[in-house]
Amino acid sequence: MSPTELIAAARKAREHARAPFSQFKVGAALETAAGAVYSGCNVENATYGLTLCAERVALFKALSEGESCFSRIAVVADTATLTPPCGACRQILWEYCGDIEIILANLDGRTETLRLSSLFPRPFDAGFLEK
Ligand code: THU
Repeated sequence: MSPTELIAAARKAREHARAPFSQFKVGAALETAAGAVYSGCNVENATYGLTLCAERVALFKALSEGESCFSRIAVVADTATLTPPCGACRQILWEYCGDIEIILANLDGRTETLRLSSLFPRPFDAGFLEK
């Protein structure tokens, strides 16, 4: 799938966002190494703190389907400055996806591609638990 198609999948998922509290809709589309795509949107709730970001919804959908090898994720929000994954998502993405490519995009067609390691340069991960 081309980056444009992955962004389109994230954009479509964003339309399903459940964001009645923030009004901030986000869509994500995670591609596996084999080329399958799992999309997600943010899902908020009345306690606020139980909210799940679009990135984690996409990832948890994929993990629950038995996927374990990922190549990239597109994240779409309606912001002039492209919206990056939050800190919690960076941690979870790192643990399950490693240094994947992250494609940020907005509704105006602006995009930027970077690696998770540039957003999350000194991660804590399972390696530390073995020491
Ligand atoms: N959100 C995401 O889904 N992904 C991001 O990358 C940033 C933030 C959601 C969480 C919450 O529902 C809303 O955006 C505002 O923080």
